[in-house]
Amino acid sequence: MPALDDAVTPTGGWSDPEQVAWYTERIGKLEARRAGERMLLEVLPRAPRRVLDLGCGDGRLSALVLEHRATVEHVLAIDISAPMLDLARQRFAGDERVQVQQGDLREPITRLDAFDVVVSGFAIHHLADERKQSLFAEVARQLAPGGAFANLEVVASATPERHAEFLAAIGRTADDAEDQLAAVEDQLEWMREAGLTNVDCLWRWRGFALLVGESPVAETTR
Ligand SMILES: C[S@@+](CC[C@H](N)C(=O)[O-])C[C@H]1O[C@@H](n2cnc3c(N)ncnc32)[C@H](O)[C@@H]1O
Repeated sequence: MPALDDAVTPTGGWSDPEQVAWYTERIGKLEARRAGERMLLEVLPRAPRRVLDLGCGDGRLSALVLEHRATVEHVLAIDISAPMLDLARQRFAGDERVQVQQGDLREPITRLDAFDVVVSGFAIHHLADERKQSLFAEVARQLAPGGAFANLEVVASATPERHAEFLAAIGRTADDAEDQLAAVEDQLEWMREAGLTNVDCLWRWRGFALLVGESPVAETTR
């Protein structure tokens, strides 16, 4: 994949409108991202009704789910960043199925609903590993029986050399300051420990990966 020209990467964090504009302008251009999204769409249940999007950004993943699953009645899209939330609200203005809400994933997510799908795009790697683990357990508890968790993520590369190759391939020279990348194998183990089943890494391209799991069908009480 050709590198994208982003020699000047804003470093202000997700509350910085400049970083948000830079990010949202480039994400659709990354072919690897689009490939991961295609795989994510493949693992969605056939007729989900309730969807939770963790670290929704400008709402790109929620929009994809809505586009490909006409059965969806409610999307709860959560993010901490005011400029990202503004973009998500603009995107979904007038769409009564979508609720955009400010929230901090560093804090426990309490029982919100029984979701058929929980998606996350390139967000959970901003959390400490310990918090990733507890979040996976909370996700497992938020899922309806048979529900799916699909986490399209930035993951740790096996070696510094591989990581440098990954960054070069996406036109970056450094990670975001807040990145806390974890290995695929560790995250799959944390997802199993959280009670998710059918856990797998279904797609990977360098430092991007799609980690998926399901809520056990037989389990009826949460
Ligand atoms: C790389 S962007 C991804 C946005 C979007 N999900 C996507 O797929 O393009 C990371 C997002 O995670 C959000 N984020 C980072 N830390 C967060 C936290 N503690 N709580 C909620 N959202 C957070 C950022 O505000 C940002 O919108």
